[in-house]
Amino acid sequence: MTDQNLAIIILAAGAGTRMKSTRPKVLHTIAGVPLVGHVLATARELEPAHILAVVRHERDAVAAAISSLVPEAVIVDQDEVPGTGRAAEVALHALPAGFSGDVVVVSGDVPLLDAATLTGLIAAHRASAAAATVLSAILDDATGYGRVIRSTDGSLDRIVEQKDAAENELAVSEVNSGTYVFRFADLRDQLASVGVENAAGEKYLTDVIGLLRGAGSDVAAVPVSESWIVGGINDRVQLSEAARRLNQLIVRGWQRAGVTILDPDSTWIDLQATLAPDVELLPGTHLTGPTVIERGAIIGPDTSLDACEVGENAVVRRTDATLAVIGAGATVGPFAYLRPGTYLGAGGKIGTFVETKNSTIGAGSKVPHLSYIGDTTVGEQSNVGAGTITANYDGVNKSKTMVGSHVRTGSHNVFVAPVRIGDGAYTGAGTVVRKDVPAGALAISVAPQRNMTGWVETNRAGTAAAQAAEASVDDVV
Ligand code: UD1
Ligand code: CA
Repeated sequence: MTDQNLAIIILAAGAGTRMKSTRPKVLHTIAGVPLVGHVLATARELEPAHILAVVRHERDAVAAAISSLVPEAVIVDQDEVPGTGRAAEVALHALPAGFSGDVVVVSGDVPLLDAATLTGLIAAHRASAAAATVLSAILDDATGYGRVIRSTDGSLDRIVEQKDAAENELAVSEVNSGTYVFRFADLRDQLASVGVENAAGEKYLTDVIGLLRGAGSDVAAVPVSESWIVGGINDRVQLSEAARRLNQLIVRGWQRAGVTILDPDSTWIDLQATLAPDVELLPGTHLTGPTVIERGAIIGPDTSLDACEVGENAVVRRTDATLAVIGAGATVGPFAYLRPGTYLGAGGKIGTFVETKNSTIGAGSKVPHLSYIGDTTVGEQSNVGAGTITANYDGVNKSKTMVGSHVRTGSHNVFVAPVRIGDGAYTGAGTVVRKDVPAGALAISVAPQRNMTGWVETNRAGTAAAQAAEASVDDVV
C-alpha cells in the first residue's frame, strides 16, 4: 500500500568524473541494469507516494533511462549550484504543497542498497524523535567517504567530508553511506542555510546534520548490517566489486532454486535471466538480457547467451548466441555462433564452427560442421553437409534460401540465394546450387574429374613428388 507520508529522492545529477567515462556514471550497468535502475527498483519496493530523481549531467540520457524504468518517477533538474544539498533542495521544491512526511534521500550510485535495509532505517527513524537519521557503515578503509563524527556521549554530531576533514577525523572508520531519512520541514529549513564554503565549493547535504544538531534537534546515525550494502560506485574498481557482489547474490539465489552452478566465480547471470530447476551451468557461462533456460538444459562451459531461449534438455557448449531460440533437446556447439533471428527446432543441431543468422532450422535438422547459414529456412529432419555456405548477399540485396524437409546436401556446397531445395532432394559434394532443386532430385554442378596421367613426371621432373610417384606401389591407376 502506498505510504502517503513518504517521498524518496534519488540523487543522480553528478558528473561522476572518477569513472573517466563518456557514459553518465549512473547509467553504467551491473547485472544488466543501470546503477540508477537498481536504486529505482529499491525505491519502488517501498511504495512511496513520491519518487523524485534529480538530474543534470547528461540530463537527457539519464532522464530517459529513469523514465523508461519507472515512469512515475518525477524528473527534477538541478540548477548550476553544485552539491548533494542543492540536489535535495530542488527535489523538495518539486514535492506537492502540503507534503509533510518523511523524505528519504539515496544516491543513484549506491546500487546494492536493498528495500529491507531502507525499511529498517525508516522504522528506526519513525520510532525515534530524530529530525534526521543517517545510515552509516563501519569500513576498514574509509577513504573517500564522509566521516560520521560523534560527541563523547556517542550521539551523532555532524558529518565531515574527506576533503574537509582534520587528521583525527580522517582516522574515523564510521562513514556516511549517503542514505538518510529526514523530516520534510527540518530538511527544507536547514538546507536554506547551507552554504558552499568548503573544499569542494559545493552545497553539501551532509551539512544539514550539523545544522540540525546545532539547532537543538535530535539526529541519529544507524550502522548498516553489512557494509557492502552501501558501497558507492565512484570508479571502475568499485563498479567491478559491486558487480561481483551482486552476481554472487544472483548465483546463490538460482542455486537455492535448484540450478546446478559449478563455478559461481566464473558464472555471470543478469537480473533479467530466468532459469528452471535442474538446469546445469558449467564454468564460464554468461547469461545476459532476458535469457530463459528451461529444465534440464546444460549450458557451457564458456558460453555467452544474450536474450536467448533454450528449451528443455538442450545442450549448448562453447557457444556465443544473441536473440536465438534453441529448441528442446537440441544441441549447439562446441564453437558455434548464433546471431539474431536463429531458431533451432526441437532435437536439431548447430554444430562445430557454424555461424547462423536470421534462419530457422527445423525440428531434427542438422548443420553439424563448418558452415554459414544466413536468411535461410530449413525444414525438418534435413542434413546440411559439412562446409556449406549460404551466399545470401550479392553486394546489394540479401536473399533467402529455402531447404525442404528430409533433404541431404553434400559437403562443401554453396547455396546461391535466392534458391530453393525441394523436400527429399540431395546435392552432391562441392555443388554450387544456383537453380532451384526439385523435390527428390539430385543436384550436381561440378565438372567431371579428368586425370592427366604422367603430368608430374613431365612437368615436375626431379621433384620429391615425381620420385614418390615413380616409386609408388599404389594400385590407383
Ligand atoms: C557523498 C557524501 C559522503 C558519503 C558518500 C557515500 C556529500 C557531500 N557527501 O559523497 O558523505 O560518504 O556520498 O557514497 O553528500 N549528486 C547530485 N548533484 C550534485 C552532486 C552529486 O545529484 O551536485 C549525486 C551524484 O550523482 C551521486 C550522489 O549525489 O549519485 C553522491 O554524489 P558523489 O559526488 O558521488 O558524492 P560522494 O563524494 O560519494
Ligand atoms: Ca558517491
